[in-house]
Amino acid sequence: MKLLRFAFAIALASGLTAILIYFNGLIYINGVSFQNAAIHLSDKDVEALRNLRTTFQKCVSANGLGLEALSGRGYCDVTLRFPSDTLPKWKDPKTGELEGLSFEFNLCEAVATWEQVRNSTTILTREFIDALPNGWKEYAWRRINKGILLNQCANRTLCEEKLSLVLPERPPYLPRQFGSCAVIGNSGDLLKTKFGKEIDGYDAVVRENGAPIQNFTEYVGTKSTFRLLNRGSAKALDKVAELYERGKEVLIIKTTIHDIMNKMIREVPILNPIYLMLGASFGSAAKGTGLKALEFALSICDSVDMYGFTVDPGYKEWTRYFSESRQGHTPLQGRAYYQMMECLGLIRIHSPMRANPNRAVKWVPDRRLILAARIASEKLLRRVGAGSGDPLSGCSIIKKQSSRKATRDLSIRSAVIEHQKYAKATTMYPLEHNPGHGLLCTVPRD
Ligand SMILES: *[C@@H]1O[C@H](CO)[C@@H](O)[C@H](O)[C@H]1NC(C)=O
Ligand SMILES: *[C@@H]1O[C@H](CO)[C@@H](O)[C@H](O)[C@H]1NC(C)=O
Ligand SMILES: *[C@@H]1O[C@H](CO)[C@@H](O)[C@H](O)[C@H]1NC(C)=O
Repeated sequence: MKLLRFAFAIALASGLTAILIYFNGLIYINGVSFQNAAIHLSDKDVEALRNLRTTFQKCVSANGLGLEALSGRGYCDVTLRFPSDTLPKWKDPKTGELEGLSFEFNLCEAVATWEQVRNSTTILTREFIDALPNGWKEYAWRRINKGILLNQCANRTLCEEKLSLVLPERPPYLPRQFGSCAVIGNSGDLLKTKFGKEIDGYDAVVRENGAPIQNFTEYVGTKSTFRLLNRGSAKALDKVAELYERGKEVLIIKTTIHDIMNKMIREVPILNPIYLMLGASFGSAAKGTGLKALEFALSICDSVDMYGFTVDPGYKEWTRYFSESRQGHTPLQGRAYYQMMECLGLIRIHSPMRANPNRAVKWVPDRRLILAARIASEKLLRRVGAGSGDPLSGCSIIKKQSSRKATRDLSIRSAVIEHQKYAKATTMYPLEHNPGHGLLCTVPRD
């Protein structure tokens, strides 16, 4: 109650009713505390958030195949609800409870975080570990499996040795380096539509884990630029690499490197480039390899299209296009989350029920609205550097770039050059668990 009174006082002092209403919603919903300072949301900010939500709701009802977006109390809060006749089929293995039919999301959180992803690098580099305070002692150790025996990299040489095969000096890819990208999931739905040719038309294709291409090309295409691997698949690195000997697919490992993997890379040998992913934190609303693959794609591509995720109503089992069904997790929540992403203009969904390649996603907020809503969201969420026009304002750590050159394919698109100009050639890395979502930035030496 005290908090509430405090918020009212601020709102009254600022003399803006819009802010009053706004604070009100915020207290109940987000539990943000107002002890320190008032958040100065301008009328324009409030309007942007309101417009975003209205447009978003229209978008979900136009494209969500029955999904509906209901307003919560604050401008950020939406509940995505499935039609009441939807039969949930997934049970939480711990509680035995069926999955629910409605899911709460915070649009502000999503806009602020995903827009940041688009300008960040999601590949772990030596430069990052060097620049991170205590990077080698604490962080590096966490990216090495059985790190506990390494005594937190007290022996840095040993840790560097273990990471050396997957640690480029500087990021191998830049934001917007690829034009159009497709992220291909493993859903059995892929066999319902022949998306192969369409998929091969993208500039880059991101696949997941051990998803095969051979014998399925009609459905999944042949192109494969990147492959994102979870812990289990990374253990069978030799098998994954064997499948793709003809290409030089780049392998991105989500978790950690371990000795067996190092040995395999050296001895098989595996010639594909291999990197570790450095991801942003989205909290529990968004996890899983599929989402990480989208995150990676969004950090290097202008546009991202999604195939082979179970996103149509009436999913039956956890089928994969190449094997028996297996244990999945929270399918309805996932579907709602992807719909949110589509209606924030981040991705375009393709599925058997949305098979027309020219399908227009209606009511996607335009870039201007996203920009305004993102700035308002950053202020509201008290993100580092919120509301400043300086592209480096989100950097909570700034260091000089490593003097060693990046090994990078320099077929630079104009979109990359433009972005580099805007960002003053800064490399931005997400900092995990940083409360204000501040970034670690490296800037050119001169
Ligand atoms: C640190 O690790 C390296 C590489 O394994 C090893 O050669 C060296 O002896 C170790 N140093 C110490 C102080 O243990
Ligand atoms: C593809 O199909 C052929 C013939 O059915 C089979 O011999 C081969 O093992 C299959 N390849 C894969 C990777 O499944
Ligand atoms: C990302 O970069 C673009 C320019 O390429 C800029 O317009 C946009 O505001 C940036 N987004 C964030 C979150 O900094």
